[in-house]
Amino acid sequence: MLQLAAGIGRLGTETAFEVLARANALAASGRDIINLGIGQPDFKTPPHIVEAGCKALRDGHHGYTPAAGIPELRAAVAADLHRRHGVTVDPGRVLIVPGGKVTMFFAILMFGEPGAEILYPNPGFPIYESVINFTGAKAVPIPLYEESGFSFDAGEVLARLTPRTRLLILNSPANPTGGAVPKAELDKLVAGLLAHPQVAVLSDEIYGQMLYDGRHHVSLLRYEELSERVILLDGWSKTYAMTGWRLGYSVWPKALFAAAERLAVNCHSCVNAAAQYAGLAALTGPQESIGVMVAAFDQRRRVIVRALNQLPGVRCVEPGGAFYAFPNITGTGYDARALEQKLLEEAGVAAIAGTSFGRYGEGYIRFSYASSTENIERAILRIRTALSRD
Ligand SMILES: Cc1ncc(COP(=O)(O)O)c(C=O)c1O
Repeated sequence: MLQLAAGIGRLGTETAFEVLARANALAASGRDIINLGIGQPDFKTPPHIVEAGCKALRDGHHGYTPAAGIPELRAAVAADLHRRHGVTVDPGRVLIVPGGKVTMFFAILMFGEPGAEILYPNPGFPIYESVINFTGAKAVPIPLYEESGFSFDAGEVLARLTPRTRLLILNSPANPTGGAVPKAELDKLVAGLLAHPQVAVLSDEIYGQMLYDGRHHVSLLRYEELSERVILLDGWSKTYAMTGWRLGYSVWPKALFAAAERLAVNCHSCVNAAAQYAGLAALTGPQESIGVMVAAFDQRRRVIVRALNQLPGVRCVEPGGAFYAFPNITGTGYDARALEQKLLEEAGVAAIAGTSFGRYGEGYIRFSYASSTENIERAILRIRTALSRD
């Protein structure tokens, strides 16, 4: 009898991939499926980035690189952070990793063990809770509410800290809700954290360049007083439409960098070289593609939110960032999982039940609007028909 480690049984999953598999199976059987489930831009990686990756291979960059990443790329990340946030980051604290997920995995592994507590947003990216449980630490949810646009109340977060809390995970702009935390709330949180010096903060800012209605992203890196304990998670996946390249980065406090680099050496050795050169071209080349993509998302956001709010039993707050709408569906009479199934099987529309993002996601369903306006409009028509059949 094989005996697996107990932690494996505690791992959760990202159901978005399961819905994608079911949607693909239905499509393969001839059904016309509109996929509003998957969390990735429908744009192509800009051509100059693709070319830089191809050129790197042609130029012979096909060996290992330093575990922390090629020095030019680490320096380019630091320069980009300075340009966007006005912060000075030592490139020696930048770790290039294969995708944003790796940073969360490493950070949670670094702090999680039985007896420790880790706070995470709920509803939130499902891998936070999954990996916390894997380590044996206690996963303490920070409930996010529709009434506050799925931002958090700093007082509520601080009230959940105990002497056993080791890590606090934040994500703004957020998946799955599109919530964006206002600067005033972050200021309050940071001020309160000064009384809890044992708490590290993992700030997942992967959607940091996708904000709407004149909002500006405030990076946790900007708070000097937390510089010894903020871990930044960011990367290329969403901003440059590079989800399949598997490229991300983290910025670690000086004292944690060696441990992070050691995890990288133990895990993946280094990120594939060509992807790193592509990432370099992304950061140092023209940035216009981001504005074009975000303008398109903004226009689709307006379309989907208006349309969702006209569906019977559905109401949807305006998402402040990212590319997700997270409507309340309690008025339809369905729970989240049942509606997810009905929409996929009956309407041919893939969306993700809110419960895939934690128990506070019950009563909600996530639509990604990283899809054409035409697809969004067709999907809404089909949903209306499916709901009116009840
Ligand atoms: C909040 C959040 N963080 C991190 C990630 C992971 O990004 P990557 O594909 O670069 O691993 C995602 C991807 O959906 C996300 O939504």
